[in-house]
Amino acid sequence: MGRVSRYDTFVVSLLKWGASDLRDLPWRHTRNPWHILVSEVMLQQTSVERVLPKFEAFIERFNTPHALADAALGDALVLWSGLGYPRRCRHLHRSAQVIVAEHGGEVPSDLESLLALPGIGQYTARAVQCFAHGAVVGVVDTNVSRVFSRLEGTSMSAKELQHFADRVVPIDAAWEWNQVLMDFGARHCTARSPQCDGCPVGNVCRWKGRGEDPAVNSAGASKPQAKFSGSDRQARGAAMRAVIKGSVLVADVIEAMQLSHDPDRGERLLQDLIQEGLLVTANGRVSLP
Ligand code: ADE
Repeated sequence: MGRVSRYDTFVVSLLKWGASDLRDLPWRHTRNPWHILVSEVMLQQTSVERVLPKFEAFIERFNTPHALADAALGDALVLWSGLGYPRRCRHLHRSAQVIVAEHGGEVPSDLESLLALPGIGQYTARAVQCFAHGAVVGVVDTNVSRVFSRLEGTSMSAKELQHFADRVVPIDAAWEWNQVLMDFGARHCTARSPQCDGCPVGNVCRWKGRGEDPAVNSAGASKPQAKFSGSDRQARGAAMRAVIKGSVLVADVIEAMQLSHDPDRGERLLQDLIQEGLLVTANGRVSLP
């Protein structure tokens, strides 16, 4: 019999750690590619806790790419509210239109077509390939990047991480493996308090919590969030919320943004949102598109 490699030990031990104990999340109960795509776009920049109450309402209303493609973007933005980064919703709306126009309404399964969709990067494309279509590919998000970098004891580029991920993914359990890895990163091998004592893969980990954390300089490592209070992001969010029930006077939107004392900044941020297609304006009033 051949020698059991470090990577085999890593895979077998982690699957044993997590496969029967995955977090119960609604997108883990479906293989519908559209529903998976929606969940992964929501999860790109929003925590699981905040996505949970929004995901089901969104896919109920926009159950197929057709349903979203035919809707006004504003109707989708109403259901997106609370998730932040509404550009993702506009991307999803455009993706739905491309899926209808170019793929007969079916989410594609090949990497090239997925990457050609607006707002779909290397991570989301592979998440759809694996979680919906069962492809044997590595799915590298920020959690997975951290776990691999620590295991190898070295910082890794995006290319190195993907190569590594594709090498270790087990061909008979790709879905479980990628979900377990994400849970392991989110629950055990966390950014700030990794539980190295009693780690199920501590015997094959090169870092073991000692010395500088190799994960912080790897591709996909989460950077400390910029301060939210007083930020453009906060004011943009307030503007989007202000018009959710209907059109509002420009001055009232700027007041909702708490920028009445700095109307030039308010106007500029509003112009950005209009330019991005997230708001429209007519007769001195602002509304959803
Ligand atoms: N974050 C991104 N995708 C996820 C998934 N499928 N499960 C849990 N967290 C995730």
